[in-house]
Amino acid sequence: MQDLEITRPDDWHLHLRDGTALPLTVNAAARVFRRVIVMPNLKPPVLTAAAALAYHSRILASLDPASACEGFEPLMTLYLTDRTDPAEIARAKASAVVHAVKLYPAGATTNSDAGVTDITRVYPALEEMQRLGVPLLVHGEVTDADIDVFDREKVFIDRTLEPLVRDFPGLKIVFEHITTEQAAAFVATGPATLAATITPHHLLYNRNHLLAGAVRPHFFCLPVLKRNTHQDALVAAATGGSPRFFLGTDSAPHARQAKECAAGCAGIFNSHVAIESYAEVFAAQGALHRLEAFASFHGPDFYGLPRNTDRIRLRQEPWTGPDTLSMGSDPVIPMRAGEQLSWRVLAEQVA
Ligand code: DOR
Ligand code: ZN
Repeated sequence: MQDLEITRPDDWHLHLRDGTALPLTVNAAARVFRRVIVMPNLKPPVLTAAAALAYHSRILASLDPASACEGFEPLMTLYLTDRTDPAEIARAKASAVVHAVKLYPAGATTNSDAGVTDITRVYPALEEMQRLGVPLLVHGEVTDADIDVFDREKVFIDRTLEPLVRDFPGLKIVFEHITTEQAAAFVATGPATLAATITPHHLLYNRNHLLAGAVRPHFFCLPVLKRNTHQDALVAAATGGSPRFFLGTDSAPHARQAKECAAGCAGIFNSHVAIESYAEVFAAQGALHRLEAFASFHGPDFYGLPRNTDRIRLRQEPWTGPDTLSMGSDPVIPMRAGEQLSWRVLAEQVA
């Protein structure tokens, strides 16, 4: 049995949804993560600082103080569209609750229909973000029908990200939930203004988990799981110690019936087993000593925020992940349902 104590981590990419989903999503995250970057792909999307502020209040109203960590803080984001007014960026910055702006290429993923159709249309908004120091968070996939779904991230780097990095040398960019060796290499060798988040599911799984022998919809997320060589490159990036890579769970629940159907939604709920799963990956690489930097240092350092000061303790001890969770009246089949996990977070908070 081994104990590991680390500075309390943050989650730099999270979907909390809204309404009756909030008690599940907020409290599962707040159990461990002090700060969470909250994705804006609601229906309708979070387009203004005023909408972000209202959403921020709904999130805090759902917090259960008995289980949440001290000082839980949702860091809000705006959803970028072709028509985002640079003045809205300034209002967001002034709000003090909005910490980033999210770029969804139109049609790339869940609730992205209102996203950006042509990157040059948002250049005025990006200029303002660069000027004000507001990071751009990127869903890095092209949406062209003639580009294979497994190639969409790689093609996005060449067509969109590389020009963006060149044209906005002062803009902080987070390449979200990377899934390929090309993305890991692009970030590792890029300027210091470029970083990436890596999810627990892209570290644990590859496309065989999704497709070998049967279609398993609870492994379907976007960007889609890739072949195992890409998984290996992501594990090397996450556990290798580079400050360009940090924790972002992309935990994104969908009701069971919305995933187990003819056109199942993309998204995996993992908040309740996230830090435990990352610990497993790092332990398997003999890199547990690097978990703290990935989970708790690299993110705040990149965003220019202070590191957390309290700590959590993990214990190497087997337990079984829940088969199902409740999101309002809907069941959710979470990541690692019924599976044995090898690390648990001890309930007590370490001062
Ligand atoms: O798998 C995903 N689910 N990828 C995304 O980009 C969006 C997310 C969601 O909102 O369900
Ligand atoms: Zn996401």
